[in-house]
Amino acid sequence: MKGEACLALSVPMDATLPTEPVAAAKPLMAAFRLEDVSRAFGQSVVLNHMQLEVPAGQHVAVIGPSGAGKTTLFRLLSAFLFPTSGRVLSLGQDTQALRGRKLRRLRRDIGVVYQNDNLVPHLRVVHNVLMGRLGHWWLPQALASLFWPLQLDLARKALREVEIEDKLWSQPGELSGGQQQRVAIARLLVQNPRCILADEPVSQLDVRLGREVIELLVKVARQSGATLLVNLHTLDLLQGNFARVLALKDGGIFYDGPPAGLDAGKLKELYGAEYGALHLQEWNAGA
Ligand SMILES: Nc1ncnc2c1ncn2[C@@H]1O[C@H](COP(=O)(O)OP(=O)(O)OP(=O)(O)O)[C@@H](O)[C@H]1O
Ligand SMILES: [Mg+2]
Repeated sequence: MKGEACLALSVPMDATLPTEPVAAAKPLMAAFRLEDVSRAFGQSVVLNHMQLEVPAGQHVAVIGPSGAGKTTLFRLLSAFLFPTSGRVLSLGQDTQALRGRKLRRLRRDIGVVYQNDNLVPHLRVVHNVLMGRLGHWWLPQALASLFWPLQLDLARKALREVEIEDKLWSQPGELSGGQQQRVAIARLLVQNPRCILADEPVSQLDVRLGREVIELLVKVARQSGATLLVNLHTLDLLQGNFARVLALKDGGIFYDGPPAGLDAGKLKELYGAEYGALHLQEWNAGA
């Protein structure tokens, strides 16, 4: 508890949204590094001797067929799962070696957005957004904030950034899917993580709304200097948003390079039977 108090007190109560690149303030060789990482569940090897390096500040799209291990990779990077063998270095730290306050600190520095269920359904939007401060707050502050939101202006400002300031007092159930994802991004803004992992953040949205949410995530990451990894099934959203695409298949890296290096032939090989179900109306990356 003593350690947590130090942690909380190191964050000013009038914290504002980031204006300076966070990663730039503390340069790192790599935000993430996988050294010969394997992960199995029982007899099933999901990731097999994987090597990977993601420089700080890079924006990477992670693609691949269902079951390829994309979510498993994200859980390893965010230290919610650990490798069967090899080492995962997140923000320079071996995730498996971390315990207690150091582990919580790492998880605070890595913001996560999911496909859905990002919000606590019975908490108003303002409280959901301020949950991004939980890793920064002391327990009494967190409890007090449930009665009257601490840092109301911070929540308001974050919601203004994602253009739904008028939803401050709404219940999550009153919001559309796209608005709920915007609230999740506003929560990221107040969390101010150094890395963002978004696991299929737009798969419940139509292509237009999905594009808006992806562009917002990219903008937020760019403004704060955060490293961004997004797991996507809608490949039309790759172009213009990601310089690097990482495609997983059969426990390894099938492709690692710019979107333009992926043509229809490679995508068919990558996705196999799932290829026909992809949204590829605008795909012309090979052109
Ligand atoms: N906790 C677990 N226990 C057992 N098996 C698991 C567990 N988590 C994942 N798996 C298995 O690991 C494999 C990869 O799962 P993962 O969720 O990483 O795939 P994915 O690429 O994210 O797929 P999708 O695109 O469908 O989300 C799957 O075969 C899955 O059943
Ligand atoms: Mg998944």
